[in-house]
Amino acid sequence: MRYFLDSAKLDEIKEAYATFGIDGVTTNPKHIMLSGKPFLTAIRDIADWIKEEGLEGKDVFPVSVEIDPYIEDTKGMIEAAREIAKLSENFVIKIPCTPEGIAAARALEKEGVRTNVTLVFSPAQAILPAKNGSMFVSPFIGWKEANGEDCRDYICDIVDIYRNYGYYGKTQIICAALRTPKQFVDCAVAGADCVTAGLDVYKDSMKHAYTRQGMDNFRNAWDNIAK
Ligand code: E4P
Repeated sequence: MRYFLDSAKLDEIKEAYATFGIDGVTTNPKHIMLSGKPFLTAIRDIADWIKEEGLEGKDVFPVSVEIDPYIEDTKGMIEAAREIAKLSENFVIKIPCTPEGIAAARALEKEGVRTNVTLVFSPAQAILPAKNGSMFVSPFIGWKEANGEDCRDYICDIVDIYRNYGYYGKTQIICAALRTPKQFVDCAVAGADCVTAGLDVYKDSMKHAYTRQGMDNFRNAWDNIAK
């Protein structure tokens, strides 16, 4: 399973890469806003850091960047995506899961612009992006579970459908907006290709009371060993 960081903050991206070895980044307009930078500066800074780290290249360290969410027509989406894609070969363009978005993603993939069909909330929405060859599809988990839904079947259904029709691994499933370590586990058990979450979720996933208790126990023992 590939692990992506959901953030446009460069300090978080650097920390998540150095600490957890993340495989890529996903952003959206909210994350760009939280970076405090203008849109183009935020994504160029990420692209520059990728170069410094020697991570430049298609498929090495994908960075998903969302188009202007006010654009609703296919032609406008295609034009906006091309402009962003020109800035870095690592950029994958996030397109909303609407009929116009699917048409844009299909056309973009045909011309070599990689797409991540985002804002997916049902297995029905996840099928057509795969049939039309998008690189990624992003079913949102955290938003649904915050709304009281249990997403385990939802993730498993998408994985099963992709396996049934040969999409699995071709269109990679990024389970998005994860908020808890348990959601990492649910995604891994289901066979999702990738997950994306904020830095705090990564840190939380490494915490366990017994780990801390074990360290305390071993320190007590260590203190009583003749040295
Ligand atoms: C995924 O690609 C999205 O950017 C994301 O997971 C949404 O997360 P948010 O709820 O933190 O905005």
